Amino acid sequence: MMIRSVVVGCGSYLPARVLTNADLAKIVDTSDEWIVERTGIRQRHIAADDEKTSDLALNAAKAALKHAGMTADDIDLIVLATATPDETFPATACRVQAGLGMTHGFAFDVQAVCSGFVYALATADNFIKAGQARAALVIGAETFSRILDWTDRTTCVLFADGAGALVLKAEEGKGDNTDRGVLTTHLHSDGRYHDLLYVDGGPSSTQTTGHLRMLGKEVFRHAVVNLADVVKETLAAVNMQPSEIDWLVPHQANKRIIDGTARKLGLGTDQVVLTVGHHGNTSAASVPLALAEAVADGRIKQGQVVLMEAMGGGFTWGSALVRW
Ligand code: UT7
Repeated sequence: MMIRSVVVGCGSYLPARVLTNADLAKIVDTSDEWIVERTGIRQRHIAADDEKTSDLALNAAKAALKHAGMTADDIDLIVLATATPDETFPATACRVQAGLGMTHGFAFDVQAVCSGFVYALATADNFIKAGQARAALVIGAETFSRILDWTDRTTCVLFADGAGALVLKAEEGKGDNTDRGVLTTHLHSDGRYHDLLYVDGGPSSTQTTGHLRMLGKEVFRHAVVNLADVVKETLAAVNMQPSEIDWLVPHQANKRIIDGTARKLGLGTDQVVLTVGHHGNTSAASVPLALAEAVADGRIKQGQVVLMEAMGGGFTWGSALVRW
């Protein structure tokens, strides 16, 4: 017997404003053709001026709770992944906690940029398995539009805003792969690669928020290798074969990276949840946004095996294998 973190609900929120590739071509020297061919992105959502990361997160959290048939009273942990917090401190998770009317339990942020949701999920799973939480909200929420250099065509066409959330609940399992819930998680980082993807500001360095800087080609190269490695490691840890995966729900940075990962696993395109085309890269929000979409439209069903993976600034990368 062992405690498992079972997914009992999920939800998401996208800001109303949609920015198309054609809109971007009016701001920087780019084209719909280039963006679609190199990334798969066609449009993305951008937060309204008065919408903060915590607002997006709160909407996603409420949707996830509703889907689970639970209320904030049932939750005792909130782990929120973001690289674009409302403020330097306190944690955006505490804003969400207050927004839900929760005065019990504990809430904190994790910072692993695009790998943030996988990090948050692993963290919440470990608190649940350790018996320190019974039910958790795991949220990925970002307003990347606020840290983009809108004059840099190599980055401003890629990133976007949004939020997604899961509700995890402690349930007793047998301890084998047939259990529902989080089966295994794997996290990695390597700080040597800071300069390939970072924000050139912060409270302790420049006292400004700064802008995202990325050497995309280099990041791409590392992503392909690191994601293949972590996927291999994940399946080996639970002695499962790629053929046992029902759904790949990857971080949505680039369709070409996602296609490559799916090909290596021998998964058909109909087994990959692909949202990069209409969401862009929403960093920590991309995996839960994709999950929520595929659950809402009936693709992901209870009992199925879902592989999540992500790679981002740090570098950070990781995975989570979940039986829904
Ligand atoms: O989520 C965190 C992890 N991030 C990622 O995984 C991102 C990984 N990287 C990528 O997705 C890709 O590398 C990009 C989409 C960022 C870039 O695609 P690429 O195929 O690697 O293109 P490139 O950077 O090699 O650029 C090719 C050309 C360059 O022109 P030259 O030097 O060949 O004349 C760029 O200046 O495309 C040019 N270019 C653009 N052209 C039109 C770069 N950005 C644009 C643009 N519109 N927006």
